[in-house]
Amino acid sequence: MLLDAPVRNTAAEDSSITSPSTTRNLLKMRCRALLLLLPSALAFELPFKVPNLFSRSPAPAQTEVHSSAASTPRIAVIGAGAAGSSAAFWISKAQDRFGLDVQVDVYEKSDYVGGRSTVVYPYGNTSLPELELGGSIFVTANKNLWRASDEFGLGRRDFSDEDESTGIWDGQEMLLSFSGSWWDTAKLLWRYGFLSPRRTENFVRALVDKYLTLYNSDSPKWDSVADLSATFGWTDFVNKTALEHLRTEGVSDKYINEVVDAATRVNYGQDVDYIHALEGALSMAANGAVGIAGGNFQIFEKFLNHSRANVYLKTPVVSIAEKSSSSHLWSVKSSSGTRDYRAVILAAPFHQTGIAFPPAVAEKVPPLPYLHLHVTLLATTAPYLNATYFGLPEGTPIPRMLLTSGQAARVGGKKPEFNSISYHGLIRDGEWAVKIFSDHALTDEWLAEMFQGQVGWVLRKEWDAYPKVPPTSTFPPVKLDRGLYYVNAFEPFISTMETETVASRNVVDLMLSDEFNSGICGRTISAVETDASEDGAQKPLVAPARQETTNPDNFVLGWDC
Ligand SMILES: Cc1cc2nc3c(=O)[nH]c(=O)nc-3n(C[C@H](O)[C@H](O)[C@H](O)COP(=O)(O)OP(=O)(O)OC[C@H]3O[C@@H](n4cnc5c(N)ncnc54)[C@H](O)[C@@H]3O)c2cc1C
Ligand SMILES: *[C@@H]1O[C@H](CO)[C@@H](O)[C@H](O)[C@H]1NC(C)=O
Ligand SMILES: *[C@@H]1O[C@H](CO)[C@@H](O)[C@H](O)[C@H]1NC(C)=O
Ligand SMILES: *[C@@H]1O[C@H](CO)[C@@H](O)[C@H](O)[C@H]1NC(C)=O
Ligand SMILES: *[C@@H]1O[C@H](CO)[C@@H](O)[C@H](O)[C@H]1NC(C)=O
Repeated sequence: MLLDAPVRNTAAEDSSITSPSTTRNLLKMRCRALLLLLPSALAFELPFKVPNLFSRSPAPAQTEVHSSAASTPRIAVIGAGAAGSSAAFWISKAQDRFGLDVQVDVYEKSDYVGGRSTVVYPYGNTSLPELELGGSIFVTANKNLWRASDEFGLGRRDFSDEDESTGIWDGQEMLLSFSGSWWDTAKLLWRYGFLSPRRTENFVRALVDKYLTLYNSDSPKWDSVADLSATFGWTDFVNKTALEHLRTEGVSDKYINEVVDAATRVNYGQDVDYIHALEGALSMAANGAVGIAGGNFQIFEKFLNHSRANVYLKTPVVSIAEKSSSSHLWSVKSSSGTRDYRAVILAAPFHQTGIAFPPAVAEKVPPLPYLHLHVTLLATTAPYLNATYFGLPEGTPIPRMLLTSGQAARVGGKKPEFNSISYHGLIRDGEWAVKIFSDHALTDEWLAEMFQGQVGWVLRKEWDAYPKVPPTSTFPPVKLDRGLYYVNAFEPFISTMETETVASRNVVDLMLSDEFNSGICGRTISAVETDASEDGAQKPLVAPARQETTNPDNFVLGWDC
């Protein structure tokens, strides 16, 4: 039995154990987070990727003849979550910088901005602190969200400061608990050794380093997620489970099956022997976790407010069809009518939109199951979970961040009845907010038992939260047809709020290049193009990126050029 009351031995904090904080940080996952804070020096030089779909018709927008009297070309964005709101924002950057003359319409079927990122209030009382119902956490390596919160003046709430104890329950036994003190760290090292946490951390750090090149001025651009993966050298391990791959990195099975599993289960609701190694490893990158005070959705509202887009809430798109094969326009039919667009950006999971697409488009996007997650938010006056449930003496303080491992079930034992239970601070004196993730609905009786009858308010929400991500080597297309783009093709690679804004930056660049001979930072696509000039000679058209920021440390591609 490894469960103990939290021990806080501050005197021993500067002990000679080599890296207590390494192990501690790896375990301090606050619900979900992505990507470590890292030194800005990057070790990788990327070859500039020239996507094979970046061929375009020579005529720029201004020279095209438009059928309507109002000749400003229109772009439709479908979805006002992280992906769609940021897409509108990126387009507005090109409007600001180059006077790109387009009109953007954002369609959103629900009545709010934010999609899978939205908040609720305990008891529906807006005087109480809000709770994130979906996407909660981002980290310093999430440069777009970080920059957005700076530029838009949105306050960040730091989760990594919280010093709550963390535990891992496997459905039968509390495998360990852990309060962040030296004593607990020593127990962790005893259980897993030093090498496994260290090797995992090194592996994750190298991944994040490579990921961060996506914010450099020479970031690769991609029309195929598989190509991007190959550029990073990740093809092989995205095609393996986290368990398979971490074994080859020399990480012990025990550490993978308990600690890494706890991370993949809380972040993606999927076990370490199922999830692909990229998503699995990134689940372990939780340093510097923050959220926006008042709700992350405000970033997405600000993206739209700072763009020049028209935003149509409560306006589901029902079909998209080619207007005519010669016009290169798409007819977008929504609940408020039909309008024609030069380009359409789909910023929602394809199969969840209910949109009727032309069969030739639909058949390019294979079915992609999403993980159906049950989120239970509640308010309780119980300071700790019911210890008896966990087979522990009554009154034992159960860790307030309780993660789970599926390992017992994998060897024929009992499965945990939930993925994670986490206390989220006081909502007022003597009453805490708690968030539970599970793969089924939790009954009132179950909650009453777990919180010893002390449950005030309960809210249940079911989400198709993120794709199921078994090992894969194929991804949905980024470009579905001429003028038709798909941001969420990125999700089976990595699914987070931040990466949706990175994927939308790429899609907007691709679209601007294809249709308007432009880009967020100008014509930065350095594909060598032929231009039939009078003398018949072929000359390359290459426009270098403009340098708008002088401080390379703070450079974030798209915000800066
Ligand atoms: C419980 C939970 C916890 C999570 N935790 C985190 C976390 O801590 N950190 C993190 O980074 N990520 C987290 N995620 C994932 C993150 O929320 C998503 O990856 C991200 O928000 C997806 O953004 P998106 O814009 O691509 O899609 P969505 O947010 O799903 O936006 C798509 C939008 O399109 C709209 N739409 C759909 N069909 C139509 C139509 N026909 N017409 C018009 N509009 C339409 C939808 O209403 C929706 O608003 C979590 C997700 C869940 C559910
Ligand atoms: C909402 O919460 C505040 C702060 O606890 C409280 O003063 C107020 O009475 C509550 N409002 C309602 C309608 O319960
Ligand atoms: C991915 O793994 C499968 C199954 O192991 C294998 O058949 C396939 O060739 C792999 N794909 C790539 C691109 O390596
Ligand atoms: C964005 O604009 C809308 C409409 O003007 C407003 O209701 C909303 O509060 C704004 N959001 C933010 C975060 O500024
Ligand atoms: C605590 O859990 C045990 C076992 O699951 C249950 O029998 C007991 O009733 C619970 N205690 C309370 C106060 O609900």
